[in-house]
Amino acid sequence: MPDRTAALLAAFEKSFNAKPEGAVRAPGRVNLIGEHTDYNHGFCLPMAIERDIRIAWRKRSDLMVRVVSLEQDGVVEFPLVTPIPHAKEKARKWADYVKGCAQILIDASVDLVGCDLAITGDVPLGSGLSSSAALEVASMLAFLAAAGMKLPHEEIAKLAQKAENTYVGTNCGILDQLSSACATQGQAMLMDCRTLRLTPAPLPAGVSVVIADTGKRRGLVDSAYNERRAQCEAGAKALGVLHLRDVTMHGLWHAVALGRLDATAKRRCEHVVAEDGRTLAAFACLRAGDAVAFGELMDQSHADLRDKFEVTCAELDGMVTIARSLPGCLGSRMTGAGFGGCTVSLVKDEAVKAFVPELEKRYRAEFPGMVPAVYVTRAAAGAGPLKI
Ligand code: GLA
Repeated sequence: MPDRTAALLAAFEKSFNAKPEGAVRAPGRVNLIGEHTDYNHGFCLPMAIERDIRIAWRKRSDLMVRVVSLEQDGVVEFPLVTPIPHAKEKARKWADYVKGCAQILIDASVDLVGCDLAITGDVPLGSGLSSSAALEVASMLAFLAAAGMKLPHEEIAKLAQKAENTYVGTNCGILDQLSSACATQGQAMLMDCRTLRLTPAPLPAGVSVVIADTGKRRGLVDSAYNERRAQCEAGAKALGVLHLRDVTMHGLWHAVALGRLDATAKRRCEHVVAEDGRTLAAFACLRAGDAVAFGELMDQSHADLRDKFEVTCAELDGMVTIARSLPGCLGSRMTGAGFGGCTVSLVKDEAVKAFVPELEKRYRAEFPGMVPAVYVTRAAAGAGPLKI
C-alpha cells in the first residue's frame, strides 16, 4: 500500500477510533492548452496529474459530519442540516469545499448520511493544478459512497462546479472538475466545454510533460478571475452572442471597426477566440504526433495570456522564458487561472533529466526568495475508489 494511503488510514483510526469503510481519490490536473476558454463555452486540453486528494470515510448513525485533514489543523464538524454555515476562520476555509459539496448534494435531493472523513492531499494549494476541484470531486465521491449512492462522473463534475460557484464563491468554469472526475489514464483530453464531450488523445512519443511551480500563490476568490470572466461576458454581449465560442476573429475585428468594443474588451476577446483555434489545432497535432507544432502553440498561448488576457506575472513569465532557453524544450506556458502558480512545458525525453534541475536553479537565481518545484508528470486516471 502506498505510504500516503497508509498514513491516511492511520490518521483516520487515530481521530475516529475505528477503521474507515472505504476511501476515494480525485486527481489534480494540468491544462496543456485552452486557458480561460471553458467559461466561454470553448475548448481545453487537460490531463490529470499524478497528485491527488484522498479521503477515507465511515458512516455515522447521526447526521453529523466530522472532517480531519492530515495537512491542515483541527477537526471540522457540521450537521447535515441546511443551510450549512461557512467556516468562520480563514484557516478553516478548506472545509468550505467539503461543506459546499454536502450542501449541493442535499440541494440536489441526495439523501446524505452523517460520516467521518479523513483527508490527505499532495496537490499544491493555489498553484493552478486544481487542488480545490480535486477536493470537491473527492468529497462528492466520499459523501455518495457513505450514502450508498452512485452518480455519473460528468454529473459529479457539474455538482462540484456548482459547489464552487455558489458556496465557495468562485465563478469558475467546468475545466477543473471535469478533468478530475473524468480523465483517462495515459491520455490528454480535448474538452468541449459546451457539450462536455471529452475526446482522449495520446501525448506524442518521446516527450515529457514538466510542471514548474513558481512558488507564487494567489487565491482565485480574491483575484481578478471573476473580473476576467465578467469582461468576457460583456464582450460576448457587445458582439451579439451568448458566448465567445460563437465568435470568429473576422467577426470580432468587424465589431471593433464599428466601435462596439473598447481596447481592453478587444484584447480579452482576441485571446479567447484565438485560444479556441489554438486548442483545436493542438489536438490535431496530438493526433498527428507532432510535438514540435504543439509546443509552438503552447508558446503562442502564453504570449496571449501575458499580453492580451493579462493574467501572467513576472514569475510565470520568467519561468517560461527560462524553460524555452533550455535544450529540448518544445513549448512552455502558464497553466490554470494565472496570477501565480505553475507553468507546463513540453520537453524531449532525452533532455528532461538535465532540464528539471537547470530550470529550478536558474529560476532561483532570477527570483531570489521564491521556492520553485519542478517535476515530470504522466497522465493519471480520473477520480474513483481507492483500494484500502
Ligand atoms: C481556473 C478555473 C477554470 C478555468 C481556468 C482557466 O482553473 O477554475 O474553470 O477557467 O482557471 O482556464
